[in-house]
Amino acid sequence: MALPANFLEELRARLPIATVIGKTVKLTRSGRERKGCCPFHGEKTPSFYVYDDHYHCFGCGEHGDIITFVMKSTGAGFMEAVEDLAGQAGLEVPKPTPQAAEAQARRATLAEVLEAACKEYQLWLWGQEGRAALDYLRGRGLADDTIRRFQLGWSGEGRGQLAAALRGQTIKPDQLIEAGLMKQGERGPVDMFFSRVMFPIRDRRGMLISFGGRIMGDGQPKYVNGPETALFSKRRSLYGLNLAREAVRKGAPMIIAEGYMDVIALSQAGFAGAVAPLGTALTEEHLEEIWRLSPEPVVCFDGDAAGQRAALKTAEMALTQLTPEKSLKLLRLPPKDDPDSLIKRGGRVAFEAELAKAQPLSAVLFDMLKLGQDVSTPEGRARFWERLAAAANSIPNRVLSKEYFNLLKKQYNPNDKWGRTNPGRSQGAKNSQGRSPAPPSVTIPPRTPPDPEAVQLRRARLMLAILLAFPVMILKVEEMFSRVRLPPADEALREALHAFASTGKPLDTDSLLSHLRSLGMDQQVRALEALAKAELSLLREASLAEAEDAWWDFYESMDFSRSELQAQCDEAKAFYDANPTDRAALDRLTRYLHLLDRARSGAAGLEEI
Ligand code: UTP
Ligand code: MN
Repeated sequence: MALPANFLEELRARLPIATVIGKTVKLTRSGRERKGCCPFHGEKTPSFYVYDDHYHCFGCGEHGDIITFVMKSTGAGFMEAVEDLAGQAGLEVPKPTPQAAEAQARRATLAEVLEAACKEYQLWLWGQEGRAALDYLRGRGLADDTIRRFQLGWSGEGRGQLAAALRGQTIKPDQLIEAGLMKQGERGPVDMFFSRVMFPIRDRRGMLISFGGRIMGDGQPKYVNGPETALFSKRRSLYGLNLAREAVRKGAPMIIAEGYMDVIALSQAGFAGAVAPLGTALTEEHLEEIWRLSPEPVVCFDGDAAGQRAALKTAEMALTQLTPEKSLKLLRLPPKDDPDSLIKRGGRVAFEAELAKAQPLSAVLFDMLKLGQDVSTPEGRARFWERLAAAANSIPNRVLSKEYFNLLKKQYNPNDKWGRTNPGRSQGAKNSQGRSPAPPSVTIPPRTPPDPEAVQLRRARLMLAILLAFPVMILKVEEMFSRVRLPPADEALREALHAFASTGKPLDTDSLLSHLRSLGMDQQVRALEALAKAELSLLREASLAEAEDAWWDFYESMDFSRSELQAQCDEAKAFYDANPTDRAALDRLTRYLHLLDRARSGAAGLEEI
């Protein structure tokens, strides 16, 4: 089919694969990737992984990109799938007529046009006519290799200079208009950018999609950004994303700044995981893109009132998309500072010190929402309470929403801090005397922090209890379970369990229990049953698969050291290599790979194992 080569690329660039798949498969973040239950084979334990540009199921081996996903999950043909996706992306599928295909082939792609312009702008910056612009950039503290890394340029003075320079490469003004580099004036095409320092804007994969241009000195407008084009959508694009992506993968913190110069200054100072929106507020699409790289990016805001308002706006937008795996940190910079000015004044250390003060959204939300609220009257306080409740309510994840609600409630009414008057409530019944109900008071008892040691042992005992209820699991997990530390009293029970399994007798609960009783272990068994009843109330009704899931959840929460995990993983890999057709061996290896990945908390990738 004669689809223009770059159309599919554009389609993929515009539609994050996780968004497409997430419409039909419930995905949760797992390290850098997302996972869910595979839609192509029945399963209860997620082994379907969604990466940046493809998916892979470790259970059934299915893999592909967005187009294969739509084809396979809906039974659509290739063109149907493309049409469907183009619809979602708001793109027109180019008519695959021979003429159109030919026209497309004759024309350089938009990205190529932009690349040609980018080269020209750079030549001009480093040549005679860009002297003042180069001095300007150096004067703002940029090193020459930073200027080259970000491919900054000089636009020239306009009057068709770019079109003239590109004519030799058979690039015509209408292509420059399409690429957002010229616009139609009264007397023909005119330059979009002139007398400006040029900032090429690339998409996530590094494809050139537009430019921004800054005037030198104080003129207006300070920045001009390229218009929306077939390649460039401001609500989706982030400046610096292609470079930040690499850095964040290598462990750099992900930072969301406000402007071009912030991203560049941060990068030069060693904070290469920085991005910025392009003259718009941060959008849901931006966050979605950012969360693909980092579960808790740091949003930097200027400390003045405007910066605080922008922070609140971003926070309120983020709440509507928050999950237990996707959140934000907020960093309030000193008033009148942006990362660029801060670094210029105090260098890397100054920003590092600020970065260390970044706070989780949950820690600052209350104060942000309180900003500008009048809490001196009952009405004002009631409005404030409604605002708090609405914020918590806007979180779609029910558990998380409740957590935020409880937290805000606690902060709203810390032991009636505002005196004897009760703050109102957004709703709720009056009490029997017809008076206002009690204020939303704290009901969470003070917590003593749990002893991690005790938590581990309790989990280990629960794992043992699961095995008592589902003895057939023992054969599968025996080796793993032998690495889990149990309280001494339960050690003997585990021994007996393993010994019983190795006799080859049928592994049902009744035979197992009577065997254990005959060994005089009745008391330990009953203690474990009581524990399971208290903590795993649904264990009795659980299916084997659910019980296995629960068991593995506990196993994954054990504090194995990295080296221990690595050794176990190596072992699992060797076993799988020797038994490549053994599904259980693959299953085990996959579990270990993910455990290890999690232990590394995203700092390194699976592929290095
Ligand atoms: P700022 O005004 O904070 O500029 O705008 P800045 O990034 O600190 O730039 P310098 O340090 O003065 O050079 C932040 C961002 O808002 C957009 C740009 O993306 C800019 O980087 N903006 C700003 C515009 O699109 N147009 C404007 O006229 C001004
Ligand atoms: Mn600035």
